[in-house]
Amino acid sequence: MSGIEVGILGTGRMSVRLASELLSNGHDVVLGSRDVARAKRVAQLLNPDRVRPGSYAEAASSRFVIPAIFMRDGAFDLLSALRTRLAGATVIDILNPFNADYSDFILPWSKSASEELQRLLPQSTVVGAFKNVFWETFENPDFAEGHSDVYVISDDAVAKREVMALFAKSPFRLVDAGRLSNARTIERMTLLAAELGARHGFLPRVGWRFLGEPWKAGIKDKFAHVIA
Ligand SMILES: NC(=O)c1ccc[n+]([C@@H]2O[C@H](COP(=O)([O-])OP(=O)(O)OC[C@H]3O[C@@H](n4cnc5c(N)ncnc54)[C@H](OP(=O)(O)O)[C@@H]3O)[C@@H](O)[C@H]2O)c1
Repeated sequence: MSGIEVGILGTGRMSVRLASELLSNGHDVVLGSRDVARAKRVAQLLNPDRVRPGSYAEAASSRFVIPAIFMRDGAFDLLSALRTRLAGATVIDILNPFNADYSDFILPWSKSASEELQRLLPQSTVVGAFKNVFWETFENPDFAEGHSDVYVISDDAVAKREVMALFAKSPFRLVDAGRLSNARTIERMTLLAAELGARHGFLPRVGWRFLGEPWKAGIKDKFAHVIA
């Protein structure tokens, strides 16, 4: 998949890094901000030819849209106001429901930002991705153990494949991580990564990488129900 225009809402730490990642993958960006002058300044720094500055509504008109705003800062209210515009779009959800001091989530264990977002935007397709990638890792996603993983989740297999294709040239390892409800675990892996990083002196460059080896004969059938 090449030459797609992707809308990004917000001009913060994740927004600029995901915009760079998309540009490196050959795509263009519509950068939406509450303040279009800010979007213009950031677009100028990123790539004035391929990053089009605008409002949230303009960015939300793209086929793929990445809200890069914290839930605690009102991301859901902003997206609710854009619900009609986002109908038919694939919303790439990077939200972790952190509280103000990053010590916990503002959602209970039984809920995830991805599932709540899908409920809020029933006419859009939510694909969760990049939840565990701290912004500091974008500058150098290589660890001694290999590239860090990006777990990609959705209840729509086609949309999930499309999002993985959008970032196919990315240095991260994109992993199909199953259904959207897996966001409950994947989002909490970010919380755990922060705690482990703080306990063991690895912050802020921490990441997850799934390890494994190919099936041994006879094993595959025993686990078919797990991914059904
Ligand atoms: N930081 C990470 O390492 C990381 C990693 C994975 C996922 N995430 C997720 O990515 C999202 C963005 O994180 P971030 O670190 O990029 O956040 P950030 O640097 O604080 O940027 C968030 C952007 O949200 C917009 N915004 C809209 N309403 C706002 C308000 N009331 N207060 C403040 N900003 C507001 C702002 O853009 P405009 O002013 O231009 O509108 C701001 O630049 C979050 O949902 C987070 O959970 C973050």
